[in-house]
Amino acid sequence: MQRLKDKITSEGRVISDGVLKVDSFLNHQIDPALTFDMGKEFASYFKNKNVTKVLTLESSGIPPALTTAMELKVPMVFAKKQKPMTMKGDVWVERVYSFTKQIENEIHIGKSFLSPNDRVLIIDDFLAHGEAALGLASIVKQAGAVVVGIGIVIEKAFQEGGGKLRDAGFDVLSLARIKSLTNHTVEFIEE
Ligand code: G4P
Ligand code: NA
Ligand code: NA
Repeated sequence: MQRLKDKITSEGRVISDGVLKVDSFLNHQIDPALTFDMGKEFASYFKNKNVTKVLTLESSGIPPALTTAMELKVPMVFAKKQKPMTMKGDVWVERVYSFTKQIENEIHIGKSFLSPNDRVLIIDDFLAHGEAALGLASIVKQAGAVVVGIGIVIEKAFQEGGGKLRDAGFDVLSLARIKSLTNHTVEFIEE
């Protein structure tokens, strides 16, 4: 997605350890028009998959997941990192290890929001090690539903997440794939 790559080039900042800071349009401040275009791209690519629900993880996955769901005219569900006190009992829980933060987090989804009839499109802002997407996919499977695809805004293709997800058989669309972040420069995989 050229518009996204241009935005990353102009506003992204490479910080230590292969981390790309994109706080000005994806992780803190949000660019609504660009986020709508992301939704259109995901919806167009996955339009024949009969998606019934878009699933993401709070917080930064929510904007692109919402615009995708709006375009596909289906609900959007976001997994919560804290178990809300109003969520009693019927909750799917999965442990997700964050390599970036080196801690294990739990993610929670109320059981009433996923049914065995669901065809789920997972959306997330970043793909690094793939743990978040795999955790979400594991809950979808426990619910008896099916993951029909995974949409990622920015894939760090030099880390193993993309390979893990594709090897597991998932149809993954990344809107921007980064080949390297060395020398404080963003280099994309051209496709
Ligand atoms: P993984 O899910 O692919 O295994 O990723 P990892 O543990 O490495 O990532 C943990 C958090 O860091 C996630 O956000 C993820 O989106 C984010 N992240 C990973 N690599 C980068 C990067 O290069 N740049 C930025 N800006 N973020 C990155 P989170 O903790 O869930 O936070 P939130 O922003 O969704 O609230
Ligand atoms: Na993030
Ligand atoms: Na995220």
